[in-house]
Parts: sequence; structure tokens; C-alpha cells
Amino acid sequence: MAAEPVVYGASERPPRGDYARARPDYTCTQHHFAYTAADHDTYRRLYERQEAMLPGLACDEFIRALPALGAKDRIPHFDEVNHRLRQATGWEVVAVPGLIPEVPFFTLLANRRFPVTDWIRTPEEFDYIVEPDVFHDLFGHVPLLFNPIFADHLQEYGKGGLKAHRLGACELLSRLYWYTIEFGLIRQANEIRASGAGILSSGGELRHSVCSPQPRRLPLDLERVMRTRYKIDSYQPTYFVIDGFQELFDKTAPDFRPLYQRVKDLPELPA
Ligand code: PHE
Ligand code: CO
Repeated sequence: MAAEPVVYGASERPPRGDYARARPDYTCTQHHFAYTAADHDTYRRLYERQEAMLPGLACDEFIRALPALGAKDRIPHFDEVNHRLRQATGWEVVAVPGLIPEVPFFTLLANRRFPVTDWIRTPEEFDYIVEPDVFHDLFGHVPLLFNPIFADHLQEYGKGGLKAHRLGACELLSRLYWYTIEFGLIRQANEIRASGAGILSSGGELRHSVCSPQPRRLPLDLERVMRTRYKIDSYQPTYFVIDGFQELFDKTAPDFRPLYQRVKDLPELPA
């Protein structure tokens, strides 16, 4: 998920990762030896439940790439995933203690390095967790990094993030991330499928986002997305749909400066 602009350790509910073991770029070593049998079991059960729901709901690119994550019955070593991922698109995953600030986050993406939280949720959080954990980050985000167009898009997003930071437009750009990378839908063979990591790693929202008559599903419109607030603690009332990753790449390629200027003067829209 997009990094929140908070001072780490100083907020009301401090992030639960151990930031003391992070390097200056916020990456750390995946403490694989520290996972307990219960941790591996949580991953295995999450994977099993989620994998069974994918057919007909997840986009084809995701379903095809998922086996490349490797082990399903335990938390994979990031090194094994990286061996395949580097070959496919030149991306790699790096361990982080949790959410990281904007600039280090964008810098990693701009260098084709995807930060993956290394700890896993507790059994009580099996169905719902607010912060990203290793299951969300790995299962939700990494399969699409095997797709060359998506992979290039996410690197451009990282570079665009550094630019947005200089322009004071991170909040607007983070809405784009939210409504595409995290909660995006995609049309394939005239059916709606999920492509966003927040949906693909969610036990309940995957079916809701694709099948429920409740939410609005709008074609991707960058101006509209950047004006729209988002909810982090409930299913999304609005989703945005693309026709393919090429559309996402092409729509985000132009210089965003005029867009940021325009949107800043327009009223925000509720989620
Ligand atoms: N084109 C955007 C800009 O000029 C950068 C960007 C690319 C943002 C891809 C998001 C995704 O700021
Ligand atoms: Co995420």
C-alpha cells in the first residue's frame, strides 16, 4: 500500500515492524528463521483460501504468474522468488519492516525493487488486517510484476512519485495508486476481473468487487481518481476499470503537472 506520511514510531498507533533493523533505504534482511510454525501455517491457509477463489475473479495475468511465487505451504524465501522475477522482468522484492515513508518507497520502485513487509498477521487477523503484511505484499502485488507492461508501469509510478513529492502532489498520486494498483479492476473478454493487490489478497472483497451489484464501477479517469478520497477500513464503494495494463501505462505516461494543477482547484469527491 502507499506509504503514509507519518513519523515512524511517533504516531498514536506505532507501526509494528522493528525499524531498528532497517538499513538507511528502509530495506532489511528477511528474517526467515524467525517465522514460527504458526506463521507458516497462517500463510498456507491464506494462500489456499485465496487461490481457490481466483478463477473467474482474478485477471489472467495474475493467475498465470502466481505459481512463480514458489512455496504455497510456507512463507517463501524472497531469494527464490527473486531468481525467477529478475529473469522475467528485472524486478526484485526486498524485505522491509512495514510501511515506509514516501521517498524511500518511490525510490525503491524507481529502481525496480518492490518492498515486501516480512512479518505475517496473527491468526486473529486472518480475515482482515489494516496494515500490509507479507501475505498482502507478496501474494497481492508480486505476481503482476512478472507482466512486462505492469512491471514498466510500476517503475514509472516510482519515478512519478519522486516528482510528485517535489511538486507537493503525493496525496493526489496516492489516490491513483489506491484505485489502480491496490483496488483496480480490469475488463477481460468482456468480464470484470480484479487486478488490484488489495482485492486479490482479500478474502471478502475479491468477490464483492467483481460480482456485487452495490459498488460503482467507472472507467479509469485520472482526473476523477485524483479527486476521489478513499476508505481504508471498508470495501470500496467505487472501483475504476481498465481495459488492459497498456491503458494504464499509456494514460499515466503524460506529464502530470497540468493535471495536478487542475485537480488542486477542483473540489474533492467522496469515496
Ligand atoms: N507521468 C507522470 C508524471 O509526469 C508520472 C507517472 C507515471 C505517474 C506512471 C504514475 C504512473 O508525473
Ligand atoms: Co499493497
